[in-house]
Amino acid sequence: MAKKVQPIGVFDSGYGGLTVLREIVWKLPQYDYVYLGDNARTPYGTRSFDTVYHYTLECVQHLFSRGCRLVILACNTASAKALRNIQQLDLPTLAPGLDGPSRRVLGVIRPTTEVIGKYSKTGSVGILATRGTVTSESYVVEIEKFFPELAVYQEACPMWVPLVENGEYASSGADYFVRQHINRLMDQCAEIDTLLLACTHYPLLIDKIRQAAPPNMTILSQGHIIADSLADYLERHPEIDAQCSKHGQRAFLTTDSAEDFDRQATVFYGEPIQSAHLAL
Ligand code: DGL
Repeated sequence: MAKKVQPIGVFDSGYGGLTVLREIVWKLPQYDYVYLGDNARTPYGTRSFDTVYHYTLECVQHLFSRGCRLVILACNTASAKALRNIQQLDLPTLAPGLDGPSRRVLGVIRPTTEVIGKYSKTGSVGILATRGTVTSESYVVEIEKFFPELAVYQEACPMWVPLVENGEYASSGADYFVRQHINRLMDQCAEIDTLLLACTHYPLLIDKIRQAAPPNMTILSQGHIIADSLADYLERHPEIDAQCSKHGQRAFLTTDSAEDFDRQATVFYGEPIQSAHLAL
């Protein structure tokens, strides 16, 4: 009899979410996963609230149609602009066959804000993110709930995603844009001792960010935070865990060219992958 596959869906606007998926897979290898990168419509960071919401919803619905009971929005911009609407408006009203109320969609902002305060000694943290995430103020609002004493400074880095998506993250041209934004952030407050890479693409720039930042800066990527949080979630929700199949399977989908995706994805995921094209 064929194995019933109900993978955990992991969504991102492009390649960036693979930096999150690799940590999740490392922590929880037994589950089945399907990754969907909306490469044909990336970047999301410069798009309106409505556009990001509709693109994200379309991708989430597709992941549901492939059997996912749980979908992680491994994209800060989608988490900031689409998650709440999907959770509150869409899940309760999905077609009866899709059984919306029993499905779950989780984002990356809440798990990150639950722990960020533990890393700072000075009480000042810097958030590096897309313009969409920064203007949504989601990090400022969520951090206030968990660490009200923490001073939060934000810097939008609109050039960083194109640099990464175009394979220029190690180039000397990238140095200029990395320094520019780190300097602007540090000009807001010299006491910042913790930088959050609040965009899934930015871990590829981490060496340059480390060089540009003052010494002894703590630089946080989200992958391990999301992986720990998902493990904890599945433990606390055995009814969801029971609906996630565990055969160790991985599938990768892209809305753009599968050949291009496979060529680029290795640096994000850490190992070669084979994707399939998805026409939305
Ligand atoms: N990876 C997305 C994030 O975490 C942003 C990339 C984009 O602009 O599409 O915010």
